[in-house]
Amino acid sequence: MQAEQGELAAPSTKIGLWFINLGLVALTFSLMVGVLAAFKYLFPDFLDFLPFYKLRPMHVSLAISWIFLVAIGGIYYYLPNYCKLPLWSPRAARLHFWVFLLTGLAILGAYLMGYFGGREYWEFPPVLALPIFASWILFGVNFYRTLARHQGSWPVYFWMWATGIIFFFFTFAESYLWIFPYFRESIIRELTVQWKSYGALIGSWNMLVYGTAIFVMAKIGGDDRVARSKMAFSLYFLSLVALMFGWAHHAYAVPFAPWVRNLAYIVSMSELLILGKIIWDWRATLKSYQKHNHCQAYRFLFAADIWIFLNLILAIMLSVPAINIFTHGTHITVAHAMGTTIGINSMILLASVFFVIESKFDPDYCASREGRVVAFGSRLANISLFVFLGALLGAGLMEAPVGAQPFYASTEAARPYLMAFAVAGGGLMLGLWMVLLPAIKIIWRGKAG
Ligand code: HEM
Repeated sequence: MQAEQGELAAPSTKIGLWFINLGLVALTFSLMVGVLAAFKYLFPDFLDFLPFYKLRPMHVSLAISWIFLVAIGGIYYYLPNYCKLPLWSPRAARLHFWVFLLTGLAILGAYLMGYFGGREYWEFPPVLALPIFASWILFGVNFYRTLARHQGSWPVYFWMWATGIIFFFFTFAESYLWIFPYFRESIIRELTVQWKSYGALIGSWNMLVYGTAIFVMAKIGGDDRVARSKMAFSLYFLSLVALMFGWAHHAYAVPFAPWVRNLAYIVSMSELLILGKIIWDWRATLKSYQKHNHCQAYRFLFAADIWIFLNLILAIMLSVPAINIFTHGTHITVAHAMGTTIGINSMILLASVFFVIESKFDPDYCASREGRVVAFGSRLANISLFVFLGALLGAGLMEAPVGAQPFYASTEAARPYLMAFAVAGGGLMLGLWMVLLPAIKIIWRGKAG
């Protein structure tokens, strides 16, 4: 079945572009804060009014916001513009945007002023979770009411988005169960629920991101078959199982049956393998004019594919119990977390951003001067990411508790690697800024014009 590539079937709504641009701004700042945090490993007294314990949550919250904002923005933008599904309520979408922005600013303000109160990853005062819940309900109702107008069977990206939205809501709620004394007063109960919910949260944003990847592939190729194939639906079902059980390979401190952890490993890795294969096969079906018309988007999907395979190799190594026992809690785990969020999620989302830019604003973007800056930035970012992750792995190996080495000696041995990490992080930041700033400018101008 041919997809409606390039057809603007329903009136375009700008709200999706607002979300996308805010996501680009969030990543721009997240990178800067991440680089500052990395230098704090080496020079803790530098900028002493901004300690690591404030910088880390600011960096991570901005990075997670980038992922959600661009995934949500894509959904708000693609439904009316490419799927002939005008939003059920553009007003609710605008309200969603403002709640997201104001809550985000309140969270950053709370971190800066030292008001904490949550658990890891949601370290802001728990009351700020309420607007997040409310805005997610707005988003969910709007999405489902909009999709109710669709006739015919759903392509896989609708299933992925629909599932990601529902599960985010439940798992985000679950991650707040600690506010009840029943959970908080038992360390095992609290840890179990906490890490279970985080694993599922990552699964729910993966659903949103993988749905976006398949949507963009279908539209660039002008062929929806990639979104209706058996392989695409296998990815969906595997991602669903990973969403429900994948947490098991995150929760080491919690006692549970080993088969659950083994299932989690197998499912998460098969999920990556199938996603990598779908992108690989799709690339082979593209004609050269299709690659040319969306050359930036194509470049980012290609990069995501390479990072999927590299992360898979790392994940396989980490899943060997004899290795895992040493790597857990070291910078190797950070390499795994950032390798997947940067190499896979962020590259896919950048492909989505540039698909929008190349389709809506400038079909010849690649050949333009700005397009060349973006291409250079993307190369610099990918090379720096390689060194960045290598340095984290090196630091982690030095920190691994092998033999009777004192803690001081292992942190000293890790220092040169942490320096390489901070410098390569600077390269990654510069490369991505060369991608992000032109994208912010073109979307902002186009939106305003
Ligand atoms: C697309 C860009 C990025 C994304 C999506 C991202 C995402 C993340 C995530 C999810 C974590 C939490 C990791 C964990 O809990 O194990 C993290 C931690 C961190 N990131 Fe990034 N990051 C990005 C870029 C950078 C850059 C360029 C730097 C600069 C060197 C950086 C420095 C850090 C530091 C220092 C931490 C704290 C690690 C620790 O707890 O010791 N990040 N990042």
